[in-house]
Amino acid sequence: MESAIKVENLSKVFYNKKKETEKEREVWALNSASFEVKKGEIFGLLGPNGAGKTTAIRCIAGLLKPYSGSVFVNGENIQHETHLFRKKMGFLTENHGNYEHLSVYDNLSFFGSFYDVENLDQRIHDVLSRMGLYDRKDLRAGKLSKGQKQRLAIARAILHDPQILFFDEPTSGLDPIASVKVRELILGLKGKNRTLFINSHNLEEVQKICDRVAILDLGKIKRIGTPAELRKDLFKTQEMTCTLKNPVTQQMKDILAQFDTIKQFRVEDNKIFVYSDDIDETTPEIVKRLVSLDAKILDVNRTVHSLEDIYIKLMEDEELPK
Ligand SMILES: Nc1ncnc2c1ncn2[C@@H]1O[C@H](COP(=O)(O)OP(=O)(O)O)[C@@H](O)[C@H]1O
Ligand SMILES: [Mg+2]
Repeated sequence: MESAIKVENLSKVFYNKKKETEKEREVWALNSASFEVKKGEIFGLLGPNGAGKTTAIRCIAGLLKPYSGSVFVNGENIQHETHLFRKKMGFLTENHGNYEHLSVYDNLSFFGSFYDVENLDQRIHDVLSRMGLYDRKDLRAGKLSKGQKQRLAIARAILHDPQILFFDEPTSGLDPIASVKVRELILGLKGKNRTLFINSHNLEEVQKICDRVAILDLGKIKRIGTPAELRKDLFKTQEMTCTLKNPVTQQMKDILAQFDTIKQFRVEDNKIFVYSDDIDETTPEIVKRLVSLDAKILDVNRTVHSLEDIYIKLMEDEELPK
């Protein structure tokens, strides 16, 4: 698949003049980070606060000049003619950035005029309907609920129909219901020719909506892949539990012992616990064999590690002495 964004050895250093020593003054918000975002995917940049996520977005968008490294958008280096690239991008920033004293409609018409949006009035109406804000169009933005303010900010980000959309912590500070709504709207924006880039420290959120994830910590990329790939990579051996209605027989145990894809198994009453490096391939085979031995299977359960488990494991591994 073609790449929408390619980041190569991107570094950014900030200087904090207040600190005592030279070393303390330097903050490497990005430290030679490289990754690629494919066209049409929802990509999640995940990391704790201060990891460098916002800095990454700002460098990609050409709002911050990197210390070193390159950013390519649709294969072209953004260092040249940054303003042309910005038209292809839409942003939801950490603090929504609406003009509180302007009406919902005027917020959009103000931003739309910067981007030369064609048929602006019609487009504003379409986007407001899509964001569920049509009946609020004449209300001052300051009077909206938090969730509505966020939806207005998304409306603004998509107004000029950009190819790449950046969402910096899209649900941070929202209540659960408003978060679900915002997540649904974001998912609805996914399209063949539209790439979504989400910064988040919320693992559950990233797991729910992202096709691929990069884990960033202290300005460095620790891992990249689909949640399933990261799971496999970090938790090689996985567990499966099979519960039978009838007792586990010696014959069944003998069969399990013959599987060379099973690393280990144990039996407790009518439950079988299996450990394998390839649980997805092995589980159906095991089930087939057990059924052929008259096993009455009530339940088969694979332990699927969440992104949170992956994240914790990754951070723990990093802390181990080299
Ligand atoms: N304008 C700035 N001046 C000084 N330090 C900054 C500035 N922006 C970010 N930083 C520092 O860079 C690091 C990464 O920040 P940021 O990109 O905002 O992280 P994240 O978005 O992952 O929380 C942090 O240590 C932060 O304090
Ligand atoms: Mg941030």
